[in-house]
Amino acid sequence: MKKFILLLTAGLIMMTSCAVNDDYGYEIKDGVIVYNTPERPADQISMIGFAAEPLETVRIGVIGLGMRGPDAVNRFANIDGTEIVAICDLYPEKLERTQQILDRNGRARAAEYSGPDGWKELCDRDDLDLVYIVTPWDSHTPMAVYAMEQGKHVAIEVPAATSVDECWQLVNTAEKTQKHCMMLENCVYDFFELTTLNMAQQGVFGEIIHTEGAYIHNLDPYWRAYQDNWRYEFNKKNRGDVYPTHGLGPACWALDIHRGDKMNTLISMDTDAFNGKKLAGTYGETEYENGDHTITLIRTEKGKTIEIQHNVVTPRPYNRMYMVEGTEGFASKYPYAGYSIRTLGRDDISVDFLDGLDGESFVSRRIMEDIEREYHHPILSENSLVETAKRVGGHGGMDFIMDYRLIYCLQRGLPLDQDVYDAAEWSCLGELSRVSIENGSMPVQMPDFTRGDWNKLDGLKLAL
Ligand SMILES: NC(=O)c1ccc[n+]([C@@H]2O[C@H](COP(=O)([O-])OP(=O)(O)OC[C@H]3O[C@@H](n4cnc5c(N)ncnc54)[C@H](O)[C@@H]3O)[C@@H](O)[C@H]2O)c1
Repeated sequence: MKKFILLLTAGLIMMTSCAVNDDYGYEIKDGVIVYNTPERPADQISMIGFAAEPLETVRIGVIGLGMRGPDAVNRFANIDGTEIVAICDLYPEKLERTQQILDRNGRARAAEYSGPDGWKELCDRDDLDLVYIVTPWDSHTPMAVYAMEQGKHVAIEVPAATSVDECWQLVNTAEKTQKHCMMLENCVYDFFELTTLNMAQQGVFGEIIHTEGAYIHNLDPYWRAYQDNWRYEFNKKNRGDVYPTHGLGPACWALDIHRGDKMNTLISMDTDAFNGKKLAGTYGETEYENGDHTITLIRTEKGKTIEIQHNVVTPRPYNRMYMVEGTEGFASKYPYAGYSIRTLGRDDISVDFLDGLDGESFVSRRIMEDIEREYHHPILSENSLVETAKRVGGHGGMDFIMDYRLIYCLQRGLPLDQDVYDAAEWSCLGELSRVSIENGSMPVQMPDFTRGDWNKLDGLKLAL
């Protein structure tokens, strides 16, 4: 009888709780996937609000010179106070194009690295402040961890990590080495997003209650342009939102995530891989994991919601779905940018041209122009910055603003706009959405990468 009771108890425990796979893994408790948030080790210090010593000149090494890397070098060559000291690609034949970009900008040629260990040799140099990583996704975290361990700040293309374990590696290494680890999420710097953020922070939309974002981009013309087909290979093997940060970044900034609120729970659902399997067929393959369309819903500690979508295989026009909804106003960027604001009965808005808006329809073109002038974000106020950004380019200028801000903050010893917790929180959606989907869209309790520090900052402040 005693034996029977013991077996019954063990069985009940197993029904409500699945095994934890490791310290940073999850267990299933009462139908919820619960991710662990382990204690911060004693030799680590929180990176909330972290600022490093100012750097008069930022000495940069760039790893990955495919479609995107050389454009970053061109942008840095147009930002004062930078030196592009070293460049690296797996393939030596990719180096010369970037050297010519430096030539054209009147900059000195950079030291060259290539081959499987070239990136490590670059990180080992003692004359670099910043390692800028523009390689395929699965190399981002190993490279960033190694570079921080060699005493360098790192900037990593999106997503910074491909698993929750990698997210923790970034957080732990940044906390241990006290080096910046910024993900290069450029969409938070697009002009409509920055104006909208400024409006949100000035209370124009009242309390923000819901945000949306997406990466919807038909990659038909690009699949074979990625070196060694790395993007197809990753999507082929993984369900879930494998590229979440362009949608999630601006959505989280509007909601002050880990600056007063935090993401708690998500659920995810995907379609079958209808076009994905057709894509696999063009490679002579039949298996393809990534659903054509993936939707994730998130609820925050303060009772707000976020919706994020991913779709790279249907002939839909490009759409990042950026949307901010508040108790008193609404902003939406796609397919057409617009605002709707209620001002009747409000005494907290003192901008004349907004008077009388009913919050029932989009504002006129003329009011849009007035809004863009009135709420132009202060980080864009430096003389001719916007013109330079549009001339040098990178998705219409937002990439230039991102790199400019990175250098601006490093030179002045200010906290960066995006910290390592943003990198982890925005990148972890890849694994969390996959795990939810693989468990029948089970809710996932998200890890807290700040380990309880999510409420220490009072709102997002971009340092000036
Ligand atoms: N933020 C954005 O808007 C945006 C846009 C495009 C790409 N990206 C990101 O940029 C990164 C690169 O994308 P891409 O389009 O340039 O891809 P790509 O395939 O054109 O380039 C990747 C480059 O990295 C090199 N590489 C691979 N492994 C390496 C290694 N071990 N050491 C050194 N070099 C190595 C490859 O040879 C290739 O030249 C990806 O993370 C992608 O998600 C971001």
